[in-house]
Amino acid sequence: MPTTERKILVTSALPYANGPLHLGHLLETIQTDIWVRFQKLQGHNCIYVCADDTHGTAIMLNAEKQGLTPEQLIAQIRESHEEDFAGFLIGFDNYHSTHSDENREISADLYQRVDAAGFIARRSISQAYDPEKELFLADRYIKGTCPKCKAEDQYGDNCEVCGSTYSPTDLINPVSVISGATPIEKESEHFFFKLPEFEDFLKDWTTSGTLQKEVANKLSEWLDSGLQEWDISRDAPYFGFEIPGAPGKYFYVWLDAPVGYMASFKNLCDKEASLSFDDYWLKESTDKTELYHFIGKDIINFHALFWPALLDCAGYRTPSSVFAHGFLTINGQKMSKSRGIFVNARTYLNHLNPEYLRYYFAAKLSNSIDDIDLNLDDFVQKVNSDLVGKVVNIASRCAKFINKAGSVLSANVIDEPLWQQFVDKNSSIAELYEQREFAKAMREIMALADLANEYIAEQEPWVLAKQQGKEQQVQDVCSLGINLFRVLMIYLKPVLPTLAEQTETFLNDQLDWPATISPLTNHEINKFKPLLQRVDKDKVNAMREEEQQNLAAQQNQSQAKPTGPLADDPIADEIVYDDFAKVDLRVAKIISAGHVEGADKLLQLTLALDEEENQTRNVFAGIKSAYAPEDLVGRLTVMVANLAPRKMKFGMSEGMVLAAGPGGKDIWLLSPDDGAKPGMRIK
Ligand code: 2FM
Ligand code: ZN
Repeated sequence: MPTTERKILVTSALPYANGPLHLGHLLETIQTDIWVRFQKLQGHNCIYVCADDTHGTAIMLNAEKQGLTPEQLIAQIRESHEEDFAGFLIGFDNYHSTHSDENREISADLYQRVDAAGFIARRSISQAYDPEKELFLADRYIKGTCPKCKAEDQYGDNCEVCGSTYSPTDLINPVSVISGATPIEKESEHFFFKLPEFEDFLKDWTTSGTLQKEVANKLSEWLDSGLQEWDISRDAPYFGFEIPGAPGKYFYVWLDAPVGYMASFKNLCDKEASLSFDDYWLKESTDKTELYHFIGKDIINFHALFWPALLDCAGYRTPSSVFAHGFLTINGQKMSKSRGIFVNARTYLNHLNPEYLRYYFAAKLSNSIDDIDLNLDDFVQKVNSDLVGKVVNIASRCAKFINKAGSVLSANVIDEPLWQQFVDKNSSIAELYEQREFAKAMREIMALADLANEYIAEQEPWVLAKQQGKEQQVQDVCSLGINLFRVLMIYLKPVLPTLAEQTETFLNDQLDWPATISPLTNHEINKFKPLLQRVDKDKVNAMREEEQQNLAAQQNQSQAKPTGPLADDPIADEIVYDDFAKVDLRVAKIISAGHVEGADKLLQLTLALDEEENQTRNVFAGIKSAYAPEDLVGRLTVMVANLAPRKMKFGMSEGMVLAAGPGGKDIWLLSPDDGAKPGMRIK
């Protein structure tokens, strides 16, 4: 036990309950978990909580798309998140959900405190609204033509082509991504947190010296350019918590998400009598307990501006620090599903040992916000060379001689200076962990592993073992080798908990991390069993292959939406003959066809409903993946002639052509026999 036991509460950012975890999430939780395990090993009382972030429009719409209630969706996702985190050995003390009673209560109470103190403003604002879906539209749900460079299919807030930023009202031909309708402007009352009133408080807090330099610099830029009031309400329909006293108004997901840290901890306190919520969250707890949030650099504003201001305003303490990290890239490229640069947590676990990735991330992580690259060739090489070739190799080279001679380690350390070099690194390696300089810590540990291997190579116990009278020397050399391996595994225990556990079984000893590490002498060990397999390159390739297949399947699924073989696509609700009779199906001749700029799936068709081609219709059809425009001109097809015209992003669509098939290349346009004539009614 250390002389002063610290009480530390640690969180990782709450993952959205809107999809499975990917390796980007794991970069953060592995970083946090290593730090937490290190603190626990130092004898501190360190508690690690997290939860799923469950609210918001995206989750509501996703559930609807899948035919689930939001509650069903978030329950499914939570199960998968918890399984995947466990697979990567993330040792949460509690994992909860923001859709919980604790979170509802604490969020409402926090809001009421802030409101009572006079820091909530109410005013009407005008926003884009989807009149078909009856939903206010966030910028990402609106697409249209960039007002500056005229690129089509751009999101409501910025253009990916020319980089300009604008408001959705500036877009040319805006459409709702959800329904395809043209958004209208609509007024509604919103609630705002008066953040600018906390400018001085935030200037003090952000320059108090606990934040990373890059983070403090970014914050001072924001503070210098002036703070805006923060919109914390959203109108129904919204999946979240209704604001007390404001029917139809909900807390914006980013209000109750960080409160989810408190709620998860509260949930733990309710299960463990020795823990007190107040000890970690009340203002007076600041000197007694520590609170740290590990986050990605993209959410610094929420954690280092809104969150401390809200906490302070509501009478709570502020975080001791916020630890931001960079993004994960794979083989040097930004993660992107559409470009196939992506690995799901589960796909990794289907093929590879989680400790390989834990070590690889540790070997790359520092306390800066620089991005971290997972280079898959380097991953194989590094794990094999460091963990298998250096660390585990020490044990496997020495254990057989000890096991052969009765499995008891020698009474003395044969090379005191070498042993001393290992234990002397104790506090500097501990300090590197404390500072989240994991890469530097791994380098120090591997430098020690090199020394141990050099020592064994010089001593050549396998040669000594063949010489008469050298039995004790063999035992002494190998006992020291095993002891050096043990020190390395103590230093690596935060990173490699399973390997450490296997080592404990082998050494018949608990791997603690005391301030002074003593050697195991006259100590019986167990029979050595292989501890870690080399990374098999084929398994890495198999993981990539599986992920490519998953991504392709997802893409096909989204393309195949309107059609699909009967086996996968249940027959829609029954209609009566009268419903069917309303549909006016006509033979139509495709008189021209062309690509639609900016549209991945659509072709533009001009259809004639009479032989003279006087009656024409403009139709957008989602058949681009199966047909080239030149293959269509002159062909007959069948169209719904009495469908009400629909305004689409690319223009008015005046009907619909009939086609069948699961999607992709397999779409077949209905083509009547040659004897048919444009305009003929299909009965
Ligand atoms: O960015 C995200 O993925 C958010 N779900 C993180 C929330 S962290 C906290 F504030 F809850
Ligand atoms: Zn543009």
